[in-house]
Amino acid sequence: MRNSQSIGVFDSGVGGTSIWKEIIKALPNENTIYLADIANAPYGEKSAEKIIELSIKNTEKLINLDCKIIVVACNTATTNAIEILREKYKIPIIGIEPAIKPAALASKSKAIGILATKGTLSSALFHKTSSLYASDLKVIEVVGKGLVELIEADKIESEEMHELLEVYLQPMLSQNIDYLVLGCSHYPYLIPVLRTILPKNVTIIDSGQAVALQTKNILITNNLLNPHNDVVNHLLFSNASTTVLSKLTHSEKHKDLSVEYLEF
Ligand code: SIN
Repeated sequence: MRNSQSIGVFDSGVGGTSIWKEIIKALPNENTIYLADIANAPYGEKSAEKIIELSIKNTEKLINLDCKIIVVACNTATTNAIEILREKYKIPIIGIEPAIKPAALASKSKAIGILATKGTLSSALFHKTSSLYASDLKVIEVVGKGLVELIEADKIESEEMHELLEVYLQPMLSQNIDYLVLGCSHYPYLIPVLRTILPKNVTIIDSGQAVALQTKNILITNNLLNPHNDVVNHLLFSNASTTVLSKLTHSEKHKDLSVEYLEF
């Protein structure tokens, strides 16, 4: 492995760019390759077997594109496939898990909400984490059915989104939660809408920064950190439309991003 090789990131679609943004902020010398498996999005309602098959396909594509580490920027793929990926490949693989532990430790009302996909909430890894850290709290789990589809369709600020979120937050608010854990990498894009619905005392937690820090630590431990880089390359690929991927990743700071179609 060479230090100049890229960090490979994949998600079912555009949502994992919320994690990718934290990675490029924390690791400014690193080249990255992002795969948005939009042709197969969303993963959240698929069977565990299908999610594992798609995660293997994405991981192999990133390995073939010469990545030095893989970040699974999708909670559904992490909770269903990470153990299999780690057994199958030698390359370091980082996952994203709902931030149950920090929310459980900080909660004063002893009630926390978790918004995630059906695939994440029904996974064994999620249950293990929840019972490990939150067994003495009320944990109100809600499936965010339809949210990923609306984000992928560029309808983050739509009336439909607002109405769905109101319905999903209701059982949490009636149990007096003081922490809302976002258990899907798409959901950080909903924070501005969520803030208009949630009372001020409810803190929203997502896993982006924790994943970026973990990626940095693993690169350091494996001697894979890129200490300097004159031309940083960020390649973002979608196997379907590139429109929303471009929109969510475009920024004044990163005008040099390449967002392209790629078959995978
Ligand atoms: C999905 O594709 O349904 C959601 C991805 C995630 O769980 O982060």
